Amino acid sequence: MKAMKDNAAPREVHGNTFDEVIDQARRRLLQGAGGAAFLGFFASPAALARSLDEPVAASSSLLAAFPRSIPTHSDDRVTVMDGYVVRAILPWGDPLIDFSAYWRPDASSSAEEQARQIGDNHDGMHFFPFGPNGFEQGLLALNHEYTNYEYLFGKEYTEPWTREKAMKAINAHGVSIVHLQRDARSLWRPVIPSRYNRRITGDTPIELTGPVAGHALLRTSADPSGTRVRGTLNNCANGFTPWGTYLTCEENFHNYFGGGSSDPLHQRYGIGKDGGYRWFEVIERFDLRREPNEPNRFGWVVEIDPFDPQSTPKKRTALGRFKHENAAVTLAPDGRVVVYMGDDERFEYLYRFVSHGRYDPANPAANRDLLDAGDLYVARFTADPAADGTRLRGQWILLDKARNPLLAADARLPTQADVLIHARLAGDIVGATRMDRPEWVAIHPVSGEVYVTLTNNDKRKPGEVDAANPRAENRWGQILRWQEAGGDPSADEFAWDLFVLAGNPLAYPKGDPRAGSAAITPENMFNSPDGLGFDAAGRLWILTDGNYSNTGAYQGMGNNQMLVADPNVGLIRRFLVGPSGCEITGLTWSNDGRTMFVNVQHPGEAEGHPRAPRIPPGQDLATFLAAHPTVFSEWPHSQFHELGGGRPRAATLVIEHANGEPVFAAR
Ligand code: FEO
Ligand code: CA
Ligand code: CA
Ligand code: CA
Repeated sequence: MKAMKDNAAPREVHGNTFDEVIDQARRRLLQGAGGAAFLGFFASPAALARSLDEPVAASSSLLAAFPRSIPTHSDDRVTVMDGYVVRAILPWGDPLIDFSAYWRPDASSSAEEQARQIGDNHDGMHFFPFGPNGFEQGLLALNHEYTNYEYLFGKEYTEPWTREKAMKAINAHGVSIVHLQRDARSLWRPVIPSRYNRRITGDTPIELTGPVAGHALLRTSADPSGTRVRGTLNNCANGFTPWGTYLTCEENFHNYFGGGSSDPLHQRYGIGKDGGYRWFEVIERFDLRREPNEPNRFGWVVEIDPFDPQSTPKKRTALGRFKHENAAVTLAPDGRVVVYMGDDERFEYLYRFVSHGRYDPANPAANRDLLDAGDLYVARFTADPAADGTRLRGQWILLDKARNPLLAADARLPTQADVLIHARLAGDIVGATRMDRPEWVAIHPVSGEVYVTLTNNDKRKPGEVDAANPRAENRWGQILRWQEAGGDPSADEFAWDLFVLAGNPLAYPKGDPRAGSAAITPENMFNSPDGLGFDAAGRLWILTDGNYSNTGAYQGMGNNQMLVADPNVGLIRRFLVGPSGCEITGLTWSNDGRTMFVNVQHPGEAEGHPRAPRIPPGQDLATFLAAHPTVFSEWPHSQFHELGGGRPRAATLVIEHANGEPVFAAR
């Protein structure tokens, strides 16, 4: 089966070099022809000088427990910094609800069993501690973004294609709620059975709430009310609220629909192109010709109460519909809830939601539906100096049909519900900044400064660079940050700069933007920052989902990895390297700071890996791997033999200091 994600890291080098880009830009600027498009690049000395040249401190007390980068590699194992130990738990297909749905190494578990097992391709997650001191047990809420058919189905693979197979794939998506407890040896293990353990899949009943609920564009033949949908899909990253709920974010939902669509509003989201899942062949609601509104019921942020296994999850439509990455939640000084969200596709936007209601810690019931009413904004990054003089100015543009004249004048979006359903079009209309694929947003626990990963964008042309997205054919990505005016996350203005430009100082000379910022060295270089999170101590953890070919623009970078940064001095150190073909994503901590949980997603994706198997002529890679599922990777079994093998499996890493010290400050 072909790759299911169309926004994956680029694998080819083509087009102009950056030197040529700069030369062209300079020439154009000098000639005064078309120079405006490059003004962003040249008119942002503050942002660019900092990101390229600002010296980085040689040491950091914040990183005292993380003293030096580990080497990268292209092996089929996880490595972590010296002094740390790593285990793996909760691999895809392990039992969750009861032991009758056990792991079968030949992938012969049924669709019904998959609905009682851990889902596939773990992504964002959050640990909710409970119990007397919160140290010994908790609930891990864990996203399952998508699935790889070459490993999901065993020998039969996709022929014959059946409804049973489509349902197994649907049940491999969604969320797992897992009751974890330290055992007698103090090792985290799932409690099975537990009243808390739950699978929410692509088929679980979910309520649509907020301003769009019941709208004509949400009604289908199975749900004439437009308020009840089956399932959540492509559960990418996550968020968590001060009132103890979990947010799971729907990203590349367009891939699940087939049959074609000529609706321009669908096309703005890529809906209509065949994503390769083939569900529409056997399940009517995924066929756009029969149910053209079904895709409007995906692309939302979903709120789940992990402590109430009977509760119905809610799709919060006030937060807008796009290809959601994560949902970073904070509070304004007046108690309004602020949520930052990226739309991960090339040239898409960064959004902010501000609730109308206020969080009240004394009245938990009153907080339950705070995400159903509020204002949605989209970001514009300018190259003008900000008030503080050291950074550049940014603005939040209100996406409100009545209060934004540009939206009021546009007949394509007749109501506020249409603005929310077609948030991308609303962003187009108001002139939001087209970004290099916004992925996770993370908020500094003390300063409130906000960071976002812009993972890469190989399609940005030289004439399209701007201050926030300063490189054409950007293969490595950057991390941008901002401070809201007055430190108030509900303010309309902010001051921003670039924290780091990833790049390759082995492949390109110092000072060349392709080499990255001064903070990037041969010891810590990486590409495609994606996952991002602050621990309570203010350390910034960076997780990558990039190109692992280890050649050309990516030479010396090895497999995907996790790094830890001191945001005050800019120092970055590589902490972990993942197994073959994986992405490293999702991070959360135990309440006592002794454990960090991190996910290994899609180990075994072989395309472009230096150790990918050679395929006999006439076969494609996926068909070959389906027949030979251990030839490229058998992680985690290859490293953690107590976990069943037979094929690669996504799993959760449990990382602790070798002496059991609480070095990870929990959030
Ligand atoms: Fe699911 Fe943008 O990563
Ligand atoms: Ca991601
Ligand atoms: Ca990514
Ligand atoms: Ca990935």
